[in-house]
Amino acid sequence: MEANVTDRVLSDDIEDVIVSEEQIKLRVRELGRQISEDYRGKDLMLVGILRGAFVFLADLIREMGISVETDFIAISSYGSASTTSGVVRILKDLDDDIADKHVLIVEDILDTGLTLNYLIKNLSSRRPASLEICSFIVKEGKQRVPIRLKYSGFTVPNTFVVGYGLDYAQMYRNLPFIGTLKRSVYEDDAIL
Ligand code: PRP
Repeated sequence: MEANVTDRVLSDDIEDVIVSEEQIKLRVRELGRQISEDYRGKDLMLVGILRGAFVFLADLIREMGISVETDFIAISSYGSASTTSGVVRILKDLDDDIADKHVLIVEDILDTGLTLNYLIKNLSSRRPASLEICSFIVKEGKQRVPIRLKYSGFTVPNTFVVGYGLDYAQMYRNLPFIGTLKRSVYEDDAIL
């Protein structure tokens, strides 16, 4: 795999586009409007999960007509690169106190659900006024624990996807669409 070739054309590595740039724009706009309506008059804190959620969060807040605060948390799960163990450690905690605030966790993808399961428990203990989740992508049939989403963007098949914040080996996050990788990109790694 030539992962570090800087002149790589990212879109050349894509097998199929699963969610197009146009579909993403429309859906983010709908979500922004819906969330703005639901939280009007409330102190809303959007909590982005680093790193993947930063692209979606950046687009989402610009589709929201209400005042919001943003904060970020970075976590790392123990396990291999492709599987989540459910054992999680906080790499960067929130900067602000969320007590009495309406918190909406903003996530790029719900896969096994183990990350969000941990975060819900952790953030609930800080006594927010409410705690809900918005995940842009939901992977079909992968959840190992039930996670209740207040908002979601798209459901995708149970396959490895990149783009719009989602990475493979820290690449492809900046693709403006969501797609699958050509087999040749990862076949030497044998992790997917
Ligand atoms: C990905 C994704 C979610 C999590 C979902 O993060 O951004 O946070 O996995 O998986 P789960 O539902 O199985 O827990 P990753 O650990 O790859 O880090 P990243 O956001 O920095 O890419």
